[in-house]
Amino acid sequence: MKVLVVGSGGREHAICWKLAQSPKVTALYCAPGNAGIAQVAKCVNVKATDVDGMVRWAKDNAMDFVVVAPDDPLALGLVDALEAAGIPTFGPRANAAIIEASKAFSKELMKKYHIPTAKYETFTELDKALSYIEAQGAPIVVKADGLALGKGVVVAATVDEAKTAAREMMEDKKFGESGSTVVIEECMTGPEVTVLAFADGEHVRPMPASQDHKRAYDGNQGPNTGGMGAISPPPQYTPDIAQRCMDEIFQPTIRALKAEGRPFHGVIYFGLMLTPDGPRVVEYNARFGDPECQAVLSLLEGDLMDIFTACREGTLDQADLRWKDSAACCLVLASGGYPLDYKKGYPISGLEEAGKFAVVFHAGTAEKDGQIVTNGGRVLGVTALGGTLDQAIANAYAAAKPISFTDMHFRTDIGRAF
Ligand code: AMP
Ligand code: GLY
Repeated sequence: MKVLVVGSGGREHAICWKLAQSPKVTALYCAPGNAGIAQVAKCVNVKATDVDGMVRWAKDNAMDFVVVAPDDPLALGLVDALEAAGIPTFGPRANAAIIEASKAFSKELMKKYHIPTAKYETFTELDKALSYIEAQGAPIVVKADGLALGKGVVVAATVDEAKTAAREMMEDKKFGESGSTVVIEECMTGPEVTVLAFADGEHVRPMPASQDHKRAYDGNQGPNTGGMGAISPPPQYTPDIAQRCMDEIFQPTIRALKAEGRPFHGVIYFGLMLTPDGPRVVEYNARFGDPECQAVLSLLEGDLMDIFTACREGTLDQADLRWKDSAACCLVLASGGYPLDYKKGYPISGLEEAGKFAVVFHAGTAEKDGQIVTNGGRVLGVTALGGTLDQAIANAYAAAKPISFTDMHFRTDIGRAF
């Protein structure tokens, strides 16, 4: 099969790396890809959000299957457009991807189907939002409705902070139209875990749980990022909790989406908080998380191409999903200054040496004059396995040692910050 993967980060490198191991995949392409992805797939110069351009390229080049990995093209309906053009595609259609694209939609869905989540109200008028904040008191959480690059959430410790956040979103339009509707919700407490699950419209099969590290600096300090590292599985996610999540959250969500006429085919991301009252949904995403994907796919034994096909065709219950009995750790090496200002174009050394001990997924790299250089905020995801979580963490840090580039930044407490 000729397969195209849409996207360009560490997640897409992990997907391409795993698909390249499938005997069914005879030619692999990635649009737009990066310098690491280029080692396992042919990179194609089409932007992930260029829906017409992507459909045209996939048709002209006779793709047998397309995998849409990032949130923006999913929300724009790239899966719908490719399927309409007769190209089998992995990923939710826009009417199901809305669980990520609209927080107001996903909160309403959870309320209607009794899926445990923080209590909330949705507002389109600033006055009403401010009175509600006043009445509820702090701590309280203010969220922009739409996609805001992970920055549209303020966990406010005081009423004033919450009011400022609501004003910035609704009046100053800090996140553009994403903030015309805000969701204001109860502040939950407890460890956060991610569960990625395959879904085929009807069946849902969770992958091993994982845990992201969203803050830029050690000790969960500093600004939010796309994720500075991930481990799998996190020790807090016990078999009892996993069973509760399956019964109270995963299956009810997939059933709810089906009942609403929005069957979810693809990977659904459950962002969970393990509160003293049980597991609750913090957020849904309509795709693999990144860097979680890098850790979790490293544990997959089965053929990812078969699993993607089963998700599309509704046969996931029969798919061969096996996982290594190991733990995984993905350590992100980022550009100095990320997630704020940072420079690109620095040469990276030590990649070959590191690759002997771990899989080094590329998140933001490019090739310049035969040399691999930095080309994004998150640059690499050094991903190692181990018999225990401690071993996996130690292996990832040891493997990363030889890698260096100017102003390289990473957290030293991945897997130990909770
Ligand atoms: P989200 O974009 O919805 O995942 O939110 C980003 C982060 O804000 C989450 O990973 C949580 O750490 C935090 N957060 C979101 N909603 C809540 C909530 N209701 N209570 C406590 N923390 C929250
Ligand atoms: N790592 C969090 C996300 O992909 O949304």
